[in-house]
Amino acid sequence: MSRKQNIRWIATAIACGVPLVVAACGGNSDSPVDPDTAADQRAASLVAQMTTDEKIGMVHGTGVPNQGLGGPFPTGVAGAGYIPGVPRLGIPGVAMADSSGGVNVANVGATALPSTLALAASWDPQLANAYGARTATELRALGYAEGLGGGVNLAREPRDGRTFEFMGEDPVLSGTLSAARTNGTQAEKVIATIKHFAMNDQETNRSTSNSIIDERTMRETELLAFEIGVKQGQPGSVMCSYNLVNGTHACENPYLLTTVLQNEWGFKGVVQSDWFANHSTVAAALAGLDEEEPGDLGSATINVPGLDVTSYFSSALKAAVTAGSVPMSRLNDMVQRKLRTMIRHGVFDSPPTPGGSIDQMAGNAFALQVAQQSAVLLKNATQSGAQQPVLPLNAPGLSSIVVIGGHADVGVLSGGGSGGVPAINGNAVTGCPQPSPLYTSCATWYKSAPLAAIAAKAPNAKVTYFDGTDANAAASAAAQADVAIVFATQWEQEGVDLTSLRLPDNTMDPSNQSYDQNALIAAVATTAKRVIVVLENGSPVLMPWAGNVHAVLEAWYPGVQGGQAIADLLFGDVNPSGKLPITFPQQDADLPQPVISATDMSVNYSEGLLMGYRWYDAKQIQPLFPFGFGLSYTTFSYSGMSASANRAGNVTVTFTIQNKGSLAGAEIAQVYATLPAGLGEPPKRLVGWQKVILQPGQSQLVGVSVPAMLLSTWDATNHVWKLNGGAYQMIAGTSSRDTNALTASVSLSSH
Ligand code: BGC
Repeated sequence: MSRKQNIRWIATAIACGVPLVVAACGGNSDSPVDPDTAADQRAASLVAQMTTDEKIGMVHGTGVPNQGLGGPFPTGVAGAGYIPGVPRLGIPGVAMADSSGGVNVANVGATALPSTLALAASWDPQLANAYGARTATELRALGYAEGLGGGVNLAREPRDGRTFEFMGEDPVLSGTLSAARTNGTQAEKVIATIKHFAMNDQETNRSTSNSIIDERTMRETELLAFEIGVKQGQPGSVMCSYNLVNGTHACENPYLLTTVLQNEWGFKGVVQSDWFANHSTVAAALAGLDEEEPGDLGSATINVPGLDVTSYFSSALKAAVTAGSVPMSRLNDMVQRKLRTMIRHGVFDSPPTPGGSIDQMAGNAFALQVAQQSAVLLKNATQSGAQQPVLPLNAPGLSSIVVIGGHADVGVLSGGGSGGVPAINGNAVTGCPQPSPLYTSCATWYKSAPLAAIAAKAPNAKVTYFDGTDANAAASAAAQADVAIVFATQWEQEGVDLTSLRLPDNTMDPSNQSYDQNALIAAVATTAKRVIVVLENGSPVLMPWAGNVHAVLEAWYPGVQGGQAIADLLFGDVNPSGKLPITFPQQDADLPQPVISATDMSVNYSEGLLMGYRWYDAKQIQPLFPFGFGLSYTTFSYSGMSASANRAGNVTVTFTIQNKGSLAGAEIAQVYATLPAGLGEPPKRLVGWQKVILQPGQSQLVGVSVPAMLLSTWDATNHVWKLNGGAYQMIAGTSSRDTNALTASVSLSSH
């Protein structure tokens, strides 16, 4: 053995751990063992040493620490779940916490980032990677080995109260960003979860509703997001969802868990149930569920009507294994998956411990960056008689600014439920509406006041605030001011859907909204010289006043630095670059599902492949703002497009983008494809994009690679992706409805 090989062997041995070194890692000591194989081997060795009781202890949680249910939990652990370790074998416990937009644990100083939907509006995989890394750093500092933050359910139903936790309506965008986020998290030695698998696209009757969907539709829409997320991100955990899919609960669904996830996608991690989403022992175990959460609550009781709090994976699973209805080999497989995941992602050899501190300056700086890059400028018109659009605001030219509504004097809104993040210094404003079944959560405004940030940008202007409750007073003040900035909010949370995309008023959300926001905006729009609306919301909102205001800035739930980011964008210190990851319709009636039924448990995906923009395109419905849309303070031109394909059907699209304006800016150039006629496909689908940052006048040649798989259709007869022969129209443009988009055709042969 050479010296180099020897060093490599020693490194492998160290990685494999003592005393399991040789037996566990096995193989030829001359050849390095790849980390996956090494993790598998070590896990197998541990499983071989475990008693049945120890194995059972690893496949279910012991309660909900943050609800004080079950336990005991280690000191300092207060997340959503906990699985104790096996000290005699050196197996550490795994504490897990929700982390959709930051660590959801109170009083620990976690950074509240902009929502996941906001992140999706950046279309930026690097930012998503950093977002995953940021949350992982904080999770680890607080003692959590697993983050439950990877929501990718598609916005089939934008009134879903969890829309803010997910990544919009397109499978490729969601899947790609999800994978980037997972990679960022797991690089920091925290296990990432992707959820909720699958077709858990609304909250109404979420535990009893049955998503009825055909195979091709699921594979080309929601499951494609998961497929990309799982294959490219290799998350350690996939969380199965509350709902049924085609008549079978997702957590005991062999098609989803075994056929697709494990057999087809080669998933080697852990299938974890959503909290109380498991309803069986044998069926779930045989279908592929590996971990029940929150598991066995012991003597603790929980009083939520309809919630199935039985633990099916503790004594019941032991009995089933003893009786042989669940083979020991299956229990071993569950434990093997858990251990290999812990080993592979570094939480076995380097388990996090609670009590660390969070670098809030770094957290705030990152939150600000995400908010700046995720806001979407939806409208920017020119005041009559003026030369320039109203935005960016020119501070020296302003002597009076009226800021109205949305609690802009104190903070910015966030979403609620397990995807919320408790405010560090207490909430600026708290409402407390109907609690969700598991989480008593209240609308939270973080203390990041847009009013103060706006005033700081324009020190010579008189800045006044009206809380919006008196529309006439606000409108009168707006009439006297150089500019009126109205803040509008839409709160949403887990467990409850919105009844409408209408901006909430005092009837729709009486706990958080004391006036009619649409009436306020309409009133201000009739008097103000210049009126700008800033939105803080989780789902799209309807804008009956859109034609009467000059500008609309979509800020989403912008996180703990939201006020600053909004001011930076309004005054042009940051040039907006976000693009909509979700269509904004003109009215509720334009949605594929007219209403969310409270009584019909069948959720029929009768729109088929027409998810999101595909629906509006196919039905020729003009959205208010289309998918992919977003303005900048500069303009970009596209030219010189070409498209070519290799023999495998992978397509490369190239074109040039030029910044035609006088400000630096970033453009998210999007590539869509129209598939050959006769395949039953929607008019177009997103197949790639690139974000380019350009100085004034600068041009850049952009190349977007489109893998053949993204041009394929699902063949439900043979259960495979199929690349169909024919002419493919590739479209490059600034949104899904860019009338100046470039096109180029490529011919592909069938595969
Ligand atoms: C949610 C999950 C969450 C879990 C643990 C459930 O109610 O659906 O997204 O991770 O609770 O808090």
